[in-house]
Parts: sequence; C-alpha cells; structure tokens
Amino acid sequence: MNNQKTKDIQTYWHLYDDADAVAREAADRILKYAAEAIADRGVFRLVLAGGHTPEATYRLLVGADTDWSRWEIYFGDERCLPINDPDRNSIIADNTFLNAVSIPAANIYPVNSEKGAEVAAKEYEAVVKAALPFDVVVLGIGEDGHTGSLFPRQKHLVDQLVCPVHNSPKPPSDRVTMGVRALSNALDVLVLATGEGKRDAIQAWRDGKSVPIAEIGNPAPVNVLMDRAASGER
Ligand code: 6PG
Repeated sequence: MNNQKTKDIQTYWHLYDDADAVAREAADRILKYAAEAIADRGVFRLVLAGGHTPEATYRLLVGADTDWSRWEIYFGDERCLPINDPDRNSIIADNTFLNAVSIPAANIYPVNSEKGAEVAAKEYEAVVKAALPFDVVVLGIGEDGHTGSLFPRQKHLVDQLVCPVHNSPKPPSDRVTMGVRALSNALDVLVLATGEGKRDAIQAWRDGKSVPIAEIGNPAPVNVLMDRAASGER
C-alpha cells in the first residue's frame, strides 16, 4: 500500500482481508517489538487502545511466548467511570488480555479516572512523563476520525502529555486522554481500523482532511492496519 507524508508524519497503509487478519498482524507486530525491546533494554512499554476493535488482538497476545515480567502497560485514554465499570478501557483490556497473562500488577498503569478528569489527568501526566518514549502505541479510530479521546473540534494544548476531556461526543462525556505528543512519542504507532463504519474516517484521513487521528505521528511512524471494509477497497 502506498505511504503518505504529511506534517513530517510518515503514514503507511496496510490492507488485510478481514478483521481477524488485522488482529493477527497487530499481535505479530507487537510481539516482534516486545522481543526486540526486551533484548535491547529489558523492558517493553505498550500503550493500549480503548474501544472494542483491539479486543481480537489482545486475545491473540494471551498465548504468546514472551517474558511478561518485562512488559509495562499504559492506556491511551480512559473513560471517567466507576472503578469496576465494564465499559472502562482498562476493564475491557483486563477481560480480554491482562487477567490472562502474568504481567506484574505494578507494571500496569491504569488511569484513575474515577477521581474525575482533571485530577486523573494530572496524576497520569507524571506516569506518562516517566515512561516516555513508548515502544508501541496502539490506537483505534472513531467514525468521526477521533482517536483516544481526542475528538474533532476539541482543542488541547499541543504539549500537554495528558488531557482532561469533557463533552465527549462518544459517551461518557468525561474522559482522560494522552495528547498528541505523548501518543506520537514511540517507536511505532499501530492504528487498527476494521469495519465499514470506519470507511469515511479513513477516507477523510487519506484525503488530508483535518481529523484528530491525522495529528498523531512523528517521531513515530504510523502504520494503519485496516481491513477491506474499512478501506473501501474491494
Ligand atoms: C474509547 C476509545 C476510542 C476508540 C474508538 C474506536 O474510549 O472509546 O479510546 O478512541 O478507540 O472510538 O472504538 P471501537 O474500536 O469500539 O470502534
């Protein structure tokens, strides 16, 4: 697939037949980076995406042959919901991945979003600052081109590592999100896009339209793993 260079961001578009193939490719790439990072630096720092698209990838990671004790897990964004709410991104990740592998609890950094967006964002800013640069950032894409909890027509200070979000168009209204700079400070950004619902957002992005996902990248390259339904290609 052709690649695209905008605003010094190198974006590579990868097309797969279906969502399962996207999940397999994403899991393979994550495990390859993990093996390299652990061999080189003894630690692998992974930022998980929220939403449901990455669940298939997380489930595939569960059976991996890797040194889980070297993995560190961060969250690109979190919804301001009660601690054990099943709609929290950290709970979705627990149920599809983290509860089934032996990553030490001390190496998993959930966002304390039950404390409210402002307090949680401030706390998580220190966590992210200490972690950067990440190895891999996994992101989803919304039908409006949002990613994490960076939504269209919502302004965030470019240098803010972690931002409180209010009035989110995707419930719940209050959230906490890593900002563009934090999400771009990695060896690689993997954007997972599957299903027809993402087609317009992908097309807007490829047409150079100003959508939040298009801000992500540099220094990290952006590798978009999409199925035919999301790409609009036969
Ligand atoms: C969230 C996510 C959000 C998600 C996209 C795609 O908290 O909802 O962070 O950015 O990744 O909305 O969601 P799906 O993968 O469920 O389509």
